Amino acid sequence: MNVLDSEIVASGLLRLGMELTDDQRHTDVILFNTCSIRQHAEDKIYSALGRLKRWKTLCPHGVLGVFGCMAQKDQKTIFRRAPHVDLVLGPGQLDLLPETVLRLLTEKSRGAETLQELHVSLKRLENRHVDVVESFRLFDPQRIAEARPSCFQATVRIMFGCDKFCTYCIVPSVRGPEQSRSPDEILDEVRRLVDQGAVEITFIGQTVNSYRYKENGKTARLSDLLYRASDIEGVRRIRFVTNYPTGMGDDLLAAVRDLPKVSEHLHVPAQSGSDAVLERMKRNYTAAQYRELVDRIYGTIPGASITSDFIVGFCGETEDEFQQTVELLRYGRFKNSFIFKYSERPGTKSAELFADDIPDDVKKRRNNELLEIQDDISRELNRGFIGREVEILVESVSKRYSNGSVQLSGRTSCDRVTVFDADNDSTVGQFVTLKICDAAPFTLFGDALRLTGDFQVVEEK
Ligand code: 5AD
Ligand code: SF4
Repeated sequence: MNVLDSEIVASGLLRLGMELTDDQRHTDVILFNTCSIRQHAEDKIYSALGRLKRWKTLCPHGVLGVFGCMAQKDQKTIFRRAPHVDLVLGPGQLDLLPETVLRLLTEKSRGAETLQELHVSLKRLENRHVDVVESFRLFDPQRIAEARPSCFQATVRIMFGCDKFCTYCIVPSVRGPEQSRSPDEILDEVRRLVDQGAVEITFIGQTVNSYRYKENGKTARLSDLLYRASDIEGVRRIRFVTNYPTGMGDDLLAAVRDLPKVSEHLHVPAQSGSDAVLERMKRNYTAAQYRELVDRIYGTIPGASITSDFIVGFCGETEDEFQQTVELLRYGRFKNSFIFKYSERPGTKSAELFADDIPDDVKKRRNNELLEIQDDISRELNRGFIGREVEILVESVSKRYSNGSVQLSGRTSCDRVTVFDADNDSTVGQFVTLKICDAAPFTLFGDALRLTGDFQVVEEK
């Protein structure tokens, strides 16, 4: 979500004639897109803002801004802790950001008095109540390819917000209630992105499988979107994230199985393997139901890869409850898992109801234990690919060798990072078929066999 928001903000700034730069010393504007999901993410922003005090002294006309979830949640605190910050705008106000930056730049170069006035009007603007969905609806379609990290891959927001209110999570209070965009609007955006060179489209939403849009007495679901997007010429691969474990309908699994363009990868966060913890988290499913889902996914889509998120050290998590998570992790045979130490977020139900009572060293130990088990599973699953042919979309150069040749990196349909050697980077953005010759837990190593486009396999290194 945040990568997409950054792209949209960058699009707005580019449209106003600004340029993107990596050179901090010579820039006029520095913006931070922020995340509130864990305390650590917020701490990093405050220290980065602290480091920029010097930049503000050297470059007083410069604009320093903060946007995203943390800006929504802690606008006043940010201004108090970092008074050198010029603007703080939440995710529903992104449409205002480019103009505001431009105004600040112009006004600042005019002098201090107008700046005072400007601050007053900015305050009014920041406190303005905006309809988040309306803001995205206006703003998302204005994105331009130059603002995207990759011109052949693009994300499309198919829904906003979240209604689940898991007790530990800050997202529903910063991103608002769940609302789906209309299929026509989404597919128009896909077509525009394809015209701009995208071959891989990722549908995103906090609970993407809850996508529902009622129109003319019919309800469109995610599976319907996948069918319709598959029919668009030029779309070569479609992904979607993140799924919620309930509501993974058979229609969705069948669409993943039957549509060759749809990636056979399902990210379905389990969070815990203990029913008691799942209940305290208000996840609305049991470990047994999650296991059934795993069975149904592998039963329907034999080549599927599943990935998951887990939180360790949630309030009151006993050793026994943690062991149940270990068991679920083993059962899931996940391609990989993202494992997080519970971080209490003020304003959430768990912060209100339960004590954050698991010591940090216990959280760390549980985190490492899960990571080690997952590593073994990932390695074993990846080794099963040795000798097999896979097709990848080549994404980037991962290494440059001294003889001028390169190691390229891409992903399979089941989202496995795969690297191979080539003479040059001419296949970045194309699909290449490889034979896998070696495997590590998070990487497959391949030899290129066939491809679309001009390409030479490195004979010798
Ligand atoms: N503490 C730790 N991890 C969290 N997540 C969400 N909220 C918290 C929190 N308060 C994790 C969940 C979610 C992922 C995106 O971040 O596992 O799936
Ligand atoms: Fe947060 Fe739960 Fe919504 Fe995911 S489903 S965004 S964890 S509240």
